[in-house]
Amino acid sequence: MQDTPFLDQVESSDSEAPAPRVKRLHVRTYGCQMNVYDSERMSEAMGADGYELTDDIADADMVVLNTCHIREKAAEKVYSDLGRIRKLKEERTSQGKETRIAVAGCVAQAEGAEIIRRAPVVDLVVGPQSYHRLPELMARSRAENRQIVDTEFPEDDKFSALPERKPMRGAIRSRTAFLTVQEGCDKFCTFCVVPYTRGVEFSRPVAAILEEAKKLASAGVREITLLGQNVNAYHGDALDGGTASLADLLNRLSDIDGLERLRYTTSHPRDMTDDLIAVHRDNSKVMPYLHLPFQAGSDGILAAMNRKHTGAEYREIVARIRNARPDLALSTDIIVGFPGETDADFEATLQMVRDVTYAQAYSFKYSSRPGTPASTMEGQIPEDVKVQRLADLQNLLNEQQLAFNASCVGRTMPVLFERPGKLNGQVIGRSPWLQSVLVESAVDRLGHICDVEITHGGPNSLIGQIVAP
Ligand code: 5AD
Ligand code: SF4
Repeated sequence: MQDTPFLDQVESSDSEAPAPRVKRLHVRTYGCQMNVYDSERMSEAMGADGYELTDDIADADMVVLNTCHIREKAAEKVYSDLGRIRKLKEERTSQGKETRIAVAGCVAQAEGAEIIRRAPVVDLVVGPQSYHRLPELMARSRAENRQIVDTEFPEDDKFSALPERKPMRGAIRSRTAFLTVQEGCDKFCTFCVVPYTRGVEFSRPVAAILEEAKKLASAGVREITLLGQNVNAYHGDALDGGTASLADLLNRLSDIDGLERLRYTTSHPRDMTDDLIAVHRDNSKVMPYLHLPFQAGSDGILAAMNRKHTGAEYREIVARIRNARPDLALSTDIIVGFPGETDADFEATLQMVRDVTYAQAYSFKYSSRPGTPASTMEGQIPEDVKVQRLADLQNLLNEQQLAFNASCVGRTMPVLFERPGKLNGQVIGRSPWLQSVLVESAVDRLGHICDVEITHGGPNSLIGQIVAP
């Protein structure tokens, strides 16, 4: 009971008056896994302030849109959603209900007060570095009846100011979790807004990460994915006063009881150091799966993107990793239609995919972002060319993904079960290679790792039968 002050309040109410209605929070997350993590932390902060989560936006007293600015489409989606939310708010207001609206995340950081100008329905704009102040800012906006914009990069460390990890009411109990260990990026790829919206590289201290991971493990989490815009550039304060690398951090985390699996994302090829590669060979809790963006295959485009590596260097890094861990599967990010990309440049991208082979990949049409060097480069590529290149690339990637999944049929692999399937008796888990695996099981397997023999490999998932235990 101590953990849930709100429950105390409701259940101990012995007066005739109905218990006060708990305030409901709806959080909508756009974009990357780091936003998923931030949304959880914001929800928990509001949970400590007495809120519970709701999936139904029409029932929410407070709505948080945690936004993404990486491509134009994602940013514009926020404004169209705000248009719909305005109507919802009007309806609720006519029923005498209050609805407070906050815009958080990278659009908040990049556009600040412009959001309130374009969407006056918004009460609060809060950037990714100051969201630990969400409850306080929301209370202030309400008390003073005014709109607030906070996109500061405050001195105080948001992570230590946030309440301890504790799933809030209404949240589903997870067996897998994200944990942000690093934020920001100093690489300045010429297409990317991240160095501007998330700021310079920052790594959390090892002690704080271990503490958070232990909390998650004791709440039943079996697999943690460490997050950072440039996670393998991690260099946080070590326990002994020195500096820890990502390899050191992974090794420390693997000592935590109950925590069975570790992953990390997103990595830059330049930061795939020998010690990190060795962890893939030596630490069995580190899963044989790596997300390693290459963005483009041709050296000319890689140079124009300021990626600081060539195609040959990327291939060489992949060879070293696969040498250390032969069963490692790769995933990647690719952009088509970067300014100046010729047919031959695009062919080099396809060739990279054919040579490396990916189990999964994310591919995007280049999207011009205000303030980035690439946005003013000559040779912007027409939309129809981008559309065709993306379709060709995705055909190849889909073939590879299906081939990888099909190659698993007949194999037995450990699967961590994390959620019930759609039908009664079905349960869904994850393979070491991040594939979704569906099995039939009469007993509750959630949170358990069982050996599964794969019987079917489809484009997006596997089906199997439990063989042990
Ligand atoms: N246009 C298209 N894709 C982009 N990405 C980042 N910026 C852009 C952009 N301006 C992609 C990159 C990155 C992923 C997270 O998003 O591939 O790795
Ligand atoms: Fe953006 Fe490049 Fe940094 Fe990735 S490495 S966040 S693509 S600037």
